[in-house]
Amino acid sequence: MSAVIGIDVSTTATKAVLVGETGRVLGIGTAEYGYDVPRPLWSEQDPGLWWAGAVSAIRAVLHAAGVSGDEVVAVGLTGQMHGAVLLDGAGEVIRPAILWNDQRTAAECDAIRATVGPERLIELTGNDALTGFTAPKLVWVRDHEPDHWRRVRHVLLPKDYLRLRLTGEYAMDKADGSGTILFDLAARDWSPEILAALGIDPAWMAPTHEGPSITGSITAAAAAATGLRAGTPVVAGGGDQSANAVGVGAVTPGTVALSLGTSGVVFATTDQPTFDPRGRVHAFCHAVPDRWHLMSVMLSAAGSLRWFRDALAPGEDFGDLVTAAAEVPAGSDGLLFLPYLTGERSPHPDPLARGAFVGLTVRHDRRHLTRAVLEGVAFGLRDGLDLMAAAGLPQPAQIRASGGGTASPLWRQILADVLGAEIATVDTSEGAAYGAGLLAAVGAGWHETVEGAAGAFVTATPVAVPGPDAARYAEAHALYRGLYPALAPTFRRT
Ligand code: XUL
Repeated sequence: MSAVIGIDVSTTATKAVLVGETGRVLGIGTAEYGYDVPRPLWSEQDPGLWWAGAVSAIRAVLHAAGVSGDEVVAVGLTGQMHGAVLLDGAGEVIRPAILWNDQRTAAECDAIRATVGPERLIELTGNDALTGFTAPKLVWVRDHEPDHWRRVRHVLLPKDYLRLRLTGEYAMDKADGSGTILFDLAARDWSPEILAALGIDPAWMAPTHEGPSITGSITAAAAAATGLRAGTPVVAGGGDQSANAVGVGAVTPGTVALSLGTSGVVFATTDQPTFDPRGRVHAFCHAVPDRWHLMSVMLSAAGSLRWFRDALAPGEDFGDLVTAAAEVPAGSDGLLFLPYLTGERSPHPDPLARGAFVGLTVRHDRRHLTRAVLEGVAFGLRDGLDLMAAAGLPQPAQIRASGGGTASPLWRQILADVLGAEIATVDTSEGAAYGAGLLAAVGAGWHETVEGAAGAFVTATPVAVPGPDAARYAEAHALYRGLYPALAPTFRRT
């Protein structure tokens, strides 16, 4: 028998998913870890955790599935995007990686806009400079830690550090590369202009490859550590968002995926480098060759419901809470919820944005509050889809939804009504690691294209279509959109 492994180097764990030739998940191995917050707004991690996590997750999945390393024919990598991993000439880690959720670089983002020119930056990279991205983190190290900066010879992203340990090769995929905003989005490679403007030596940046391309093979030392066979090919893979989209089959132009986890991501595949001229929505390369994608990221989606449950209904079952919310009408009798509980990225890139309930009266009870949370999250996602429409994306007929939040029939219906599209769920729930496995399946030659592999591996089942409440939601969404501009001055002072 033959299998492939997809490995996801996430912020809280490394997960290895073993996938058989039919696309069936044969086993999952996970190794958890934490990240450091050395100062408020900072977020760092020791890259050694990713290697130790991968060794333990790979060993665990092979053992649990009773599969020998010799039967694994290819490995695919994915992981948290945007993390800055700095290595010296010997490949040694210079300082802890600065992660995607680190917020220290507001001044560096301003400096990048000023140096490159705000319009030119978006024209070249498809994106504005945001604290989450890699480039401002490099500028921060350049300006605050000159001793570290002098030693830098290689810049990698988290999953590519794991690749280095597995294969000995410095390499990266196009999707994660574009998330650094050091990329020329249309050319699908490093931008000499941006690198020069920021004082980054092009020799530090690894060669980039399309998602299913083979970038190297497992070394003898990595084989001894993990139980994989030396010589097993490792494909480029992709950043976690594009790999997750591959895993739900959002690979052809016009397909839209929605991930409703702690954060909420709307992801649209495009066949050209489409972007918003004001950079209000992310535009990156896809892990599918010659495809791009637009993406809006809402920071507290299902995370808003979790906060609400923990704060106002501790211990209550999510299912019971949401079922009760179905007893009140669409629009929650005029109650609106702003979901910016941890600041926001899209459509308002504002770390100081805050949550709010607006329109409370004595008529409202816990059911209204719950429903308002579900609706407010859907409105935030609609804002993301609207930005994509402004960038030229046609309204999708279907949206493929994944993540814990999609278990709720009420929430699925609200999403269908608010987003104006059929909501379908997929039979694969292992997210980005599964997508990385699918890219490995193409690298292994099981399928010729990512589209072919996704077609064979992923089945989407429609679960909700837009219904009669859509018009009521459109009115409520218009009111919702007025709240952030009205409240932003207050948020800045709270
Ligand atoms: C995407 C993003 C997150 C991280 C964390 O832009 O910042 O999805 O990749 O997993």
